[in-house]
Amino acid sequence: MDQAASLNGGRSPVKVIAVTSGKGGVGKTNLVANLACALSELGRRVMILDADLGLANLDVLLGYAPEYNLAHVFAGEKSLAEIVVTGPKGIKIIPASSGIQEITDLDCRQQRILLDQMDDFADQLDYLLIDTAAGISSLVTSFLTAAQEVVVVVTPEPTSMTDAYALVKVMHTSFAADRFHLLVNQVRDEEEAGLIFAKLNLVCEKFLDISLDFLGYIPADSAVSRAVRQQRAVVDLLPDAAASRQFMVVARELEQMSGRRPGGGLQFFWRRLLDGEPARE
Ligand SMILES: Nc1ncnc2c1ncn2[C@@H]1O[C@H](COP(=O)(O)OP(=O)(O)OP(=O)(O)O)[C@@H](O)[C@H]1O
Ligand SMILES: [Mg+2]
Repeated sequence: MDQAASLNGGRSPVKVIAVTSGKGGVGKTNLVANLACALSELGRRVMILDADLGLANLDVLLGYAPEYNLAHVFAGEKSLAEIVVTGPKGIKIIPASSGIQEITDLDCRQQRILLDQMDDFADQLDYLLIDTAAGISSLVTSFLTAAQEVVVVVTPEPTSMTDAYALVKVMHTSFAADRFHLLVNQVRDEEEAGLIFAKLNLVCEKFLDISLDFLGYIPADSAVSRAVRQQRAVVDLLPDAAASRQFMVVARELEQMSGRRPGGGLQFFWRRLLDGEPARE
């Protein structure tokens, strides 16, 4: 049992997974919402941190209207437990949107409040999934260096692939990150996903000397947009759709993924995020 597990009453530490992309609109928020539902379906306890300060649309996607967000916690007006929303299949959501940009700039008292209150959740969770904004802002790189695992979403669009490469390059050269899981979205089939993975992996091996990990793929499926229009996760609304079945496959794949960072866990994640310390291995 590792140190974090022993502090955690024998439970495995919370897996902290950040989902990102170079280009916007490739399906990050859909992936986070559906993976959360799929992991829940597998009996896991999942929390989502909505860290996209742009058009934070997780709430629109899952049809909830958060009254409060992290900014209220930092201001001392609400506790973390009071702002957490319960979504489909019991998933917990931390609405961040406004508030999230201040997160790497908190004073000591605010940091203590956040860490103490987060700690209360540590033994209630198996996963923390983070929905980041697209692109390479300093806030995004902070989340990616603090998270235990990074999932990069790409689609077959050439710009999505070049932007994903740019993101991996910055994370590797400036932050020493060398572990990236690729999720290929909106493809025809597994074969197309394999080709896209192979292309991107080849340039990463050639120019950055790192290999990517293939996490899986989600087919382009009109059931996804049907669910989006009804403000439901497709896994929840249409569990037999092709995309839903693949979300379950990817969730099982995540379950197999072993964390390489010592400890992992919520405390480690928040400490790394708040200290802004580059998470070199
Ligand atoms: N597998 C899929 N099949 C069909 N449509 C999809 C699929 N994945 C995503 N979409 C559609 O693509 C659109 C964008 O998805 P989403 O909002 O998840 O992207 P995003 O990467 O979070 O965007 P942003 O960068 O703006 O946050 C959605 O309207 C969704 O319906
Ligand atoms: Mg999004």
